[in-house]
Amino acid sequence: MNPRNLRLLLLLVFASAINAQDLFPHEVCAPTGNFTGNSTYQTTLTTLLSSISTTNSLSLTYGFFNASAVVSGASQTLYVIGSCRGDLTAESCRTCLKTSASDIRRLCPLQKGAVLYSENCTVRHSNASIFGTVTTDPDYQLFNVNNVTNPDTYNAALRALLDDLRGKAAAGGSLRKYATGNTSADFDKIYAMVQCTPDLTEQ
Ligand SMILES: *[C@@H]1O[C@H](CO)[C@@H](O)[C@H](O)[C@H]1NC(C)=O
Ligand SMILES: *[C@@H]1O[C@H](CO)[C@@H](O)[C@H](O)[C@H]1NC(C)=O
Ligand SMILES: *[C@@H]1O[C@H](CO)[C@@H](O)[C@H](O)[C@H]1NC(C)=O
Ligand SMILES: *[C@@H]1O[C@H](CO)[C@@H](O)[C@H](O)[C@H]1NC(C)=O
Ligand SMILES: *[C@@H]1O[C@H](CO)[C@@H](O)[C@H](O)[C@H]1NC(C)=O
Ligand SMILES: *[C@@H]1O[C@H](CO)[C@@H](O)[C@H](O)[C@H]1NC(C)=O
Ligand SMILES: *[C@@H]1O[C@H](CO)[C@@H](O)[C@H](O)[C@H]1NC(C)=O
Repeated sequence: MNPRNLRLLLLLVFASAINAQDLFPHEVCAPTGNFTGNSTYQTTLTTLLSSISTTNSLSLTYGFFNASAVVSGASQTLYVIGSCRGDLTAESCRTCLKTSASDIRRLCPLQKGAVLYSENCTVRHSNASIFGTVTTDPDYQLFNVNNVTNPDTYNAALRALLDDLRGKAAAGGSLRKYATGNTSADFDKIYAMVQCTPDLTEQ
């Protein structure tokens, strides 16, 4: 798998009974290539990942961070994306990105590409450009173990809600693409949140 194909789809529908600490962080390390320990690649990557949480708060107001850096002498460029849930404050976002930047180095120590999902944010790095590129794989899906009362009614209501939110999130502009909503299906209430990274076009 090319690190370019590390994708950023996170589907989260989980029961409150499940302990989130058992599910996050969840890392996917690209199997395609490793860099050498203690190399300039490693120093550049570590510095780039640290810059996520030391960036000025303005750029984290919208919960999105991207940066790139050239590895000196190696004719390679490293790319990093940090993305927080659209409802986080800049400070909560910074806290999550800081932890994740450290976790991704620990959990994928030598890999040239990786993505790390945590409860409040996602961090990703690659040696191939990942800006403005749609990626939906690898995905990480969690589901509520309880069953709905009436699947047909529930799925119809869920589909209508997600269709609506998908359009709203995509149309959110170049700073934030995020939408939330809720609907009812029989006795079930459905809450949904949809988000794309804002470097993508609406299409
Ligand atoms: C990324 O690293 C892999 C593994 O070393 C290499 O095969 C690939 O050519 C690199 N990609 C770029 C864009 O440099
Ligand atoms: C990369 O390093 C990991 C251990 O960190 C190892 O399991 C994996 O086989 C290595 N991959 C390649 C392509 O050398
Ligand atoms: C990197 O350097 C540190 C300290 O100099 C050493 O402990 C570590 O084993 C080195 N790691 C690799 C992969 O060479
Ligand atoms: C972040 O991504 C945007 C959109 O793809 C790109 O224009 C910009 O140069 C990137 N920022 C950095 C610091 O690389
Ligand atoms: C996620 O953010 C919320 C709101 O700031 C916070 O209460 C919660 O503790 C955060 N989760 C983790 C695992 O840090
Ligand atoms: C939900 O439905 C599935 C498939 O019909 C069944 O295997 C499972 O036991 C059900 N779970 C609960 C919590 O009732
Ligand atoms: C549910 O959606 C309505 C608008 O359709 C909104 O006014 C309300 O705040 C939402 N409730 C929650 C708990 O998000």
